[in-house]
Amino acid sequence: MTKFLLSLHVLAAIVAIGPVTVAASMFPPAARRVQVGADGPDTAGVGTVRLLHRICRVYSGIGLAVPLLGFATAAAMGVLGDGWLITSIALTAAAAGVLVAFVLPRQDELLERLDGRQAVERDSTVRLAMFTGVFNLLWATVTVLMIVRPGSTTGA
Ligand code: HEM
Repeated sequence: MTKFLLSLHVLAAIVAIGPVTVAASMFPPAARRVQVGADGPDTAGVGTVRLLHRICRVYSGIGLAVPLLGFATAAAMGVLGDGWLITSIALTAAAAGVLVAFVLPRQDELLERLDGRQAVERDSTVRLAMFTGVFNLLWATVTVLMIVRPGSTTGA
């Protein structure tokens, strides 16, 4: 059962967090590249930005499965009190917080600007790229912690 839960947990991390990482990283340069002419922004460019935002939103929702299956795996293994796991839970919460409080709302704002036929400012895409980088760094750290499990006496 533990192996089954762990497989689902890792599968969910790959399927859900992977697309969010790629789409969120592509969003700021894609938004910056949209040309706004006299008759509004180029529609293909805005379409790309909208699709990237949609991928981030939908796959963030699916990504909820990662901590849920993580808790189930941890409970099955009896490691809920381990230091490496508590640290991972805190970092996962921080990553989710950055995504929900900063990355997704700022993507929304930029998309609304483009929909309102306004050009996006370079500074705002740079700030968004910074928050996206923090999100990526946090979950990458969690992945390393999950594999190294410092202080753990189980497994490799
Ligand atoms: C609340 C958050 C999380 C909890 C409670 C949790 C729990 C766990 C547990 C108990 C294991 C088994 C470790 C072992 O084999 O001894 C595991 C493995 C793993 N987790 Fe998580 N996890 C969480 C978040 C994440 C996140 C955000 C990612 C990546 C995006 C992730 C990726 C992995 C990977 C790749 C493994 C396999 C490690 C290995 O067996 O070598 N986990 N997780």
